[in-house]
Amino acid sequence: MTEITKNTDIAVKEILNGNVVALPTETVYGLGANGLKKRAVLKIFEIKRRPSFNPLILHVFEIADIEKYAKNIPDEVYMLADKFSPGPLTFVLPKKKIVPDIVTAGLESVAIRLPAHKKFRKVLKETGVPIAAPSANMFGKISPTTAKDVYKELSGKINYVLDGGKCKIGLESTVLSFVGNKINILRPGYITKKDIEKVIGNKFSDKSRNKNEKILSPGMLKSHYAPSTPLYIIEDIALANNLKNKFGVVDLLKYKNLRTVAYNLFEEFRKIDNPKYEFALIQKVEESGLGIAINDRIEKASIGNIIFVSGNLKFRKK
Ligand code: TXA
Ligand code: MG
Repeated sequence: MTEITKNTDIAVKEILNGNVVALPTETVYGLGANGLKKRAVLKIFEIKRRPSFNPLILHVFEIADIEKYAKNIPDEVYMLADKFSPGPLTFVLPKKKIVPDIVTAGLESVAIRLPAHKKFRKVLKETGVPIAAPSANMFGKISPTTAKDVYKELSGKINYVLDGGKCKIGLESTVLSFVGNKINILRPGYITKKDIEKVIGNKFSDKSRNKNEKILSPGMLKSHYAPSTPLYIIEDIALANNLKNKFGVVDLLKYKNLRTVAYNLFEEFRKIDNPKYEFALIQKVEESGLGIAINDRIEKASIGNIIFVSGNLKFRKK
């Protein structure tokens, strides 16, 4: 039996008992366990059916905690943490031994973030342990932004979902790597490249954008957050609007700015996740600022492009 609760004490108990519990963050819901206990972390992988090569983010309460789990921390991390933490920015740094290999999938680096959600912070403070947590969805599915989304997918697999309302941001954190004396964005997120440059200047090595480069972060896999309905990208969604009945349309143009697109994006993906649609169409947003993270998630959710050729649809799979 799984229960949705608003009581943080229950989540604290679950973590301290070595169980897995769903927790709200400002980005998306996380599936948390004591990040120092191998057996507890293993349960996360089992519940999500997440491949063991995909490392987890360690969530901590305050900036000083970063030093407990990471070493060789460059000044830029402190500058960025001062500005954006707690918040949607994750630092990948050389790990200390205390972090179990299962958290980092055997890597020598660890991803660390200070979540901003009040309830998550309360759980961190009261448990006194770092909490390893991926997004609270089954592997390859859409990240949840409400307690109900989590419940629908994980009911029966965990005891509790801590309800903290709808996630304010709606997209996963920006993952920024400092490994090997280089700075790379491994996953674009709410904190944009420009936001980062304003604090530390342009120090990116931009290796992560080179397609020939080995995948640095499994979150960079081309497809990741797929709805079950095949989703195709279309240049101009207006062309599809009169055909709405035949397939699902994710209309992002109705939102007034990129923040509200981010806030609603995964819910929009969920809406088309319905067997009545054979496939669905989506148009990307402008590729700048927060639009880069939004388009990244659209790319990952889609299986190809669609074009109109003399009134007929042509599908081009990836
Ligand atoms: O906003 C978020 O980041 C949410 C909330 C729950 O905090 N978490 C989240 O976790 O999105 P997850 O596991 O779905 O995505 C974490 C990403 C993955 O792409 C993973 O490969 C990458 O971070 N990652 C974790 N540790 C890493 C490491 N040591 N080196 C490179 N990438 C790492
Ligand atoms: Mg995820």
